[in-house]
Amino acid sequence: MNVWIVYDSRYGNNKKIAEVLAGHFKDGNNVHVHYAKEISQQALIDGGIDILMFGGPLRFGTPSSTIKRWANKMTGLLNQKAVKVGKTAIWGTHMKDAPDTPPGKCAWDVAKPKWKAILDTFPAEKKAPEIQGFVVGAIAGRDTLEAGWQDLVARFADTVKSL
Ligand SMILES: Cc1cc2nc3c(=O)[nH]c(=O)nc-3n(C[C@H](O)[C@H](O)[C@H](O)COP(=O)(O)O)c2cc1C
Repeated sequence: MNVWIVYDSRYGNNKKIAEVLAGHFKDGNNVHVHYAKEISQQALIDGGIDILMFGGPLRFGTPSSTIKRWANKMTGLLNQKAVKVGKTAIWGTHMKDAPDTPPGKCAWDVAKPKWKAILDTFPAEKKAPEIQGFVVGAIAGRDTLEAGWQDLVARFADTVKSL
């Protein structure tokens, strides 16, 4: 199967998620991992897409413009060609919500529906039911994924495989 993983990442956390996720699919598949700015939507369509997983960070309460733009263009192109990918799933990284304060627009619970809207309109035969969130410990920093993130990646991979 052709498995595509596309990410946006400024500080490397989403890149790490993408790479570890790729490891869960390497047996018997052609796995392609790309930064969203370095892979065209047409390249995926030309290669064939059995599974597409993508993700990136929150920026000011919304998925980063790089991954949002990439996903929207992918959706447009697939619709134009009347093609659906086999399976798709989305993850997103975010900060932990501040305790004891009402969630503002930058909070994951408030922002997650924006990711979900991208998933809901994405042309795929099968989709993961939810967006997989990953907590980072700093607004700007390398290697800040919350302990246990590798287990979440494994669970995310299992969810996609079992769709
Ligand atoms: C300009 C900017 C805006 C951000 N806005 C949010 C936000 O609204 N909510 C949030 O949870 N995290 C926010 N963050 C933190 C990101 O979640 C964090 O940088 C990202 O998850 C790290 O992923 P990366 O290492 O792949 O770049 C912001 C970070 C930056 C630099």
